Amino acid sequence: MTVYFIGAGPGAADLLTLRGRDLLAQCPVCLYAGSIVPQDMLQFCPATARLVDTAPMTLDEIEAEYLKAQADGHDVARLHSGDLSIYSAVAEQTRRLDKHGIAWRMVPGVPAFAAAAATLGQELTVPGVAQSLVLTRMTGRASAMPERENLPAFAATGATLAIHLAIHTLDKIVEQLTPFYGTQCPVAIVARASWPDEVVLRGTLASIEEQFAANPIERTALVLVGPALGQKDFRESALYDPDYRRRFRS
Ligand SMILES: C[S@@+](CC[C@H](N)C(=O)[O-])C[C@H]1O[C@@H](n2cnc3c(N)ncnc32)[C@H](O)[C@@H]1O
Repeated sequence: MTVYFIGAGPGAADLLTLRGRDLLAQCPVCLYAGSIVPQDMLQFCPATARLVDTAPMTLDEIEAEYLKAQADGHDVARLHSGDLSIYSAVAEQTRRLDKHGIAWRMVPGVPAFAAAAATLGQELTVPGVAQSLVLTRMTGRASAMPERENLPAFAATGATLAIHLAIHTLDKIVEQLTPFYGTQCPVAIVARASWPDEVVLRGTLASIEEQFAANPIERTALVLVGPALGQKDFRESALYDPDYRRRFRS
């Protein structure tokens, strides 16, 4: 018996990986975070599968589901939004599985920041402008931010920021980033990227709050900030330069 943690991607069912889809099809049990994983994705599960929405459950109750599946000899597909490597609460589950000697594997998914960048048609690293991307979040009720991981510290680098779980603190984001990036720095908010009701707001640190006030968004949104967004005046990378010698060009 194995628990397969599967990154469900940002929302659209066809952004699930083929590996994830095949595992969903073969597992008799599927646990999914119904608050953010779309129901559409459950179409890939067997018609007889036991489907469990974990949104209202505690970690103890989720653990009990794993133990039940183990007793029944059933593999479990465990869906989490986006990719599993960030803000997925997978670590606390695998630690409990290890305690019970239950095998588990992880299958990556398309993260929300990548879906948001695709929606914007935007490379987040642009030569000479920004070559780093910070995936971060604002402090929340579920888990506080470690003290040194704060927006001013990241902003000091000038990197592109992808701020998760943050839409309710847009005022703080603007206040903390303006001294580093300036009022004219581009900002994009992408809500429910890849869902049918996706929303995009584009502006600057000076204007984004006004746009947000006119188009309030409650949850499942990313705030992207940095000079790379919308930047047209940048030098080309050397990768395709005719004078650039590299292994794959004779
Ligand atoms: C608990 S975190 C999960 C992140 C996920 N593991 C990932 O790889 O993107 C949830 C947050 O991710 C962002 N998010 C997830 N799906 C999104 C989507 N489709 N569009 C925009 N932001 C999304 C939002 O900031 C949301 O509050």
